[in-house]
Amino acid sequence: MTGPLAVPRVRLATLPTPLHPAPRLSEAAGVEIWLKRDDLTGLGLGGNKVRGLEYLLGDALARGCDHLVTGGGPGSNWAMLAALAARLHGLRATLVCYGDEVPAVGNMALARTAGAGVRFTGDADRASVDRVVEEVADALRTAGAHPFALGRGGATPVGALGYATAAVELAGQLAAAELGPASFWLATGSCGTQGGLHAGVAWQRLGRVVGVTVSRPAAECVERVSALARGVADLLGVPDTAGPPTVVDGHLGPGYGRRSEEGDAAAALVACTEGVFLDPVFAAKAMAGLLAAARRGEVVGPVVFLVSGGAPTLFTTL
Ligand SMILES: Cc1ncc(COP(=O)(O)O)c(C=O)c1O
Repeated sequence: MTGPLAVPRVRLATLPTPLHPAPRLSEAAGVEIWLKRDDLTGLGLGGNKVRGLEYLLGDALARGCDHLVTGGGPGSNWAMLAALAARLHGLRATLVCYGDEVPAVGNMALARTAGAGVRFTGDADRASVDRVVEEVADALRTAGAHPFALGRGGATPVGALGYATAAVELAGQLAAAELGPASFWLATGSCGTQGGLHAGVAWQRLGRVVGVTVSRPAAECVERVSALARGVADLLGVPDTAGPPTVVDGHLGPGYGRRSEEGDAAAALVACTEGVFLDPVFAAKAMAGLLAAARRGEVVGPVVFLVSGGAPTLFTTL
């Protein structure tokens, strides 16, 4: 259960995920683009969250926990995958969702299939999840259980380790493909993925990371990514050499969890040129950000774009 970095880790993902060139998309964008296929991480329907869960579950098991409590929106990729990973390793799972009860479709249906209990906060404020996660964990503790409580997105330094070690995987793939320093573009929500990658790319000297925020204001993301990257460097026992993170704003569209016109257009381009579907909530908007920056002549290749999964939301997002 101990990984190469002496941090407890369980195996959930099928690694390495492919890194492949995207020649027709590159031609359309006017910049060399490669796709890192973390939609193919293998647990459930795949996705970026699987990498962090390897460390978070490792930590939960090392602490003797028997019940994972976390949450998000009813369509949360994170919450479903966390519940699935927990069940696989013998933990019970309770998910907390903001808002009122909604029909179980998409990720919520999959979480229920995985045996997760679900609680709704009755409050549309997304932050209500974090409060109720703590309440549920307290009640479980009082009842004699050993809960492992995690906030939305699993964005902790331990969770962010998933993308620091992904940078080691990428270092090998970039060397094999004879690619020089790259810019790594990805969607940023809770910031754990960018935080880990930011630390990992600096540690491995691979280039720079650009996050496109799809939920929080960019300034908040910069703070969160910096703090997470510092925490990751501490866990790795390496100096924190990552400079200030880059987070691009302006591609949220009508709001978090909703489709945007430019995101749908970007996803259609990637589908038609490369045969890859980008989820509408995260990767489609990040690709829209990349294409817009490329059109302005601001992007120098090669670009590695993170296809971060979210397949269940392809069918449920309005
Ligand atoms: C498909 C997908 N892509 C990207 C992200 C963003 O990752 P993070 O929350 O670590 O910023 C998420 C988060 O849930 C996701 O589900």
